[in-house]
Amino acid sequence: MIDFKDKVVLITGASAGMGREIARNIAKEGCKVAVFARSETKLEKLCNEINSGSSQCIYKKCDVSNKQNVSEAVDYTIKNFGRVDIAFLNAGILVPNPIETFDSEIITKTVKINFFGMVYFIEKLLPVMKKQKHSVIAVTSTLPDKRGVPGWGAYGSSKAAISWLAESLRSEAYQKYNIEFITIKPGSVLTPMIENLYRPGSVRPEKAAEIIVNGVKKGKKVIQFPFLQKISIQVRDILPPFAYDALPLDLMKGDGFPEPEEEKNES
Ligand SMILES: NC(=O)c1ccc[n+]([C@@H]2O[C@H](COP(=O)([O-])OP(=O)(O)OC[C@H]3O[C@@H](n4cnc5c(N)ncnc54)[C@H](OP(=O)(O)O)[C@@H]3O)[C@@H](O)[C@H]2O)c1
Repeated sequence: MIDFKDKVVLITGASAGMGREIARNIAKEGCKVAVFARSETKLEKLCNEINSGSSQCIYKKCDVSNKQNVSEAVDYTIKNFGRVDIAFLNAGILVPNPIETFDSEIITKTVKINFFGMVYFIEKLLPVMKKQKHSVIAVTSTLPDKRGVPGWGAYGSSKAAISWLAESLRSEAYQKYNIEFITIKPGSVLTPMIENLYRPGSVRPEKAAEIIVNGVKKGKKVIQFPFLQKISIQVRDILPPFAYDALPLDLMKGDGFPEPEEEKNES
């Protein structure tokens, strides 16, 4: 069981959505929270809210795709709080990449933020955490991280990469250094990220944060939710390729997938 009381918790992507709700949720337990994102005003507001309760909060602007920013974020946390017990590497973006306008720039940008943004933190945190008795690194991937999804290849590639990396590090980090890697795999959560994408069975970010925090407390290695979406993805995952590839494109892309420019111009 992991207890948040008096722990130093670092959270990326804390200016909105799940990151912000995780910060609010753990702040009820009396801990030290360091929050990072690009929107300083939103971070300041969150910190003021947390500092008015039983927890302490500090913030700093950090673009996770910038290695120097990441290094400074960890240094800033250690300077203020002395260590990092638990890190939620949560920052991410979701950009569709339709086949009609296939663009490597979208993939580069997505992978830089969603994957390398976590890799840079892991690189900086490992030497710090190796010296501590026990630490946790929780990376946020996504529920469908095993099979490709039409239109969402940039996002899915970045998330499959982080799931793979976390799983590759998990046993060694734990056995050698008592560092726990947790992979968080949310389905649809009603955050700004999916505000134009209707997904049945979505959960609110407060609920998502509750599930995530409880999962971390229980020491789960992989936290997957919501339940029905988890089952649905597990069923998709076992379909043979000919059946998977025959699934309707609109169903796979989901409601709200933007009409590609090429087709808009033709119509
Ligand atoms: N919502 C879903 O349905 C869903 C499902 C599966 C997985 N996820 C994953 O869950 C995580 C949180 O997503 P969310 O739904 O809470 O999204 P969100 O509401 O859009 O929040 C994303 C957060 O990431 C930060 N961020 C984005 N780019 C950044 C950058 N370059 N550097 C630093 N921070 C950056 C944003 O802050 P700034 O813009 O201020 O920098 C914001 O705080 C993401 O990794 C996402 O991929 C979400």
